[in-house]
Amino acid sequence: MNKAKIIQIGTGLHGFILSTEEVELAAIVDMNADNLEKAQHLLGDKPIPAYSDYNKALQETKADIAVVVTPPGTHKKIMKDMLKAGLHVILEKPISMDWNESVEMADIADKSGKYVMISQNYRWNNVIQAVKAAVDSNVIGRIEEVEWLFARNHTATSSFVVWRKQMEEMFLKEMCVHHFDLMRYLLGANAVSIYAESSNPSWNFLDSNGAVSAIIRFEQGVMVHYYGSFINRGTETPWHGYFRLIGSEGAIESYDDTPCIVKLDGSKQLIPLADMARTGLKFSLFDMLHSVREGRKPITHIGDNLHSWEIVCRAVDSIKAERRISF
Ligand SMILES: NC(=O)c1ccc[n+]([C@@H]2O[C@H](COP(=O)([O-])OP(=O)(O)OC[C@H]3O[C@@H](n4cnc5c(N)ncnc54)[C@H](O)[C@@H]3O)[C@@H](O)[C@H]2O)c1
Repeated sequence: MNKAKIIQIGTGLHGFILSTEEVELAAIVDMNADNLEKAQHLLGDKPIPAYSDYNKALQETKADIAVVVTPPGTHKKIMKDMLKAGLHVILEKPISMDWNESVEMADIADKSGKYVMISQNYRWNNVIQAVKAAVDSNVIGRIEEVEWLFARNHTATSSFVVWRKQMEEMFLKEMCVHHFDLMRYLLGANAVSIYAESSNPSWNFLDSNGAVSAIIRFEQGVMVHYYGSFINRGTETPWHGYFRLIGSEGAIESYDDTPCIVKLDGSKQLIPLADMARTGLKFSLFDMLHSVREGRKPITHIGDNLHSWEIVCRAVDSIKAERRISF
């Protein structure tokens, strides 16, 4: 693949237009005329074909990769249609609305001969990459305890889009999936059980519960203590949260995007932020291009991402059953 051609489907609130030197935007698609027009406006005078129907876009445009930024309830059908048309697919998180459907999608992707990646943009920033390098250097020894705090007052318009308003445990499914994926990435381990409760304080303005507490056990005996809130009333954390990874020889702490190592004698050493040529979705796209060239699955391919999504789905099960759920 030389300069890969992409079709972007979905130009809503998160549907920003990609432009990188490695890819050429071949078409944009949205069934909502206003959102399509806004995207066209963003593109300025670039003559990118715009469609309301992705089947028409597929007929008239040759593309290698589809970037799908539509609501999770639409992901399965669009993924299947793109794979059938011979495209690799980058899907926004979460995989779908439901666990069984997500497992089915991973199976379809596996048999398609093409790659399906779930974009996990939170992994690809200079703080997380710096922390990952420190963890992998084994500087704090064996990690067995983790504390994670996420707190933001999410009054953004996106909270009130109809499909989000109707989503059961929206905060867990839409937001916590990022944090759970980061835990797996940093620890290099999968979760084995979870106990979760969600809460609905009187100031909650969302249609579903606005905060979640969870105890998550990971492989190799790591215990994670998580609290997340979309209806915060205090100091805001960064989007990836505040966290402490605690090991036998010290801790790695990340508050306000200044990660540091704290040794047993209490001394602190700042971890230099990673130097990254590409972050977020641009990194995901770059990894997809390389996976195609090298004939390997993308790092966050759908089969891998099922493990992150399973933590969310089992958390919902735990909330309903009011007990710890083993995977
Ligand atoms: N990774 C992140 O940081 C992040 C942030 C926000 C949202 N997201 C994810 O991005 C996805 C979209 O979220 P959003 O906030 O942009 O939603 P949105 O509702 O604002 O936009 C979705 C767009 O998709 C269009 N659409 C739906 N079905 C379509 C179809 N069959 N063909 C063409 N267009 C179609 C809609 O018309 C709409 O314009 C979701 O999966 C969400 O979880 C990811």
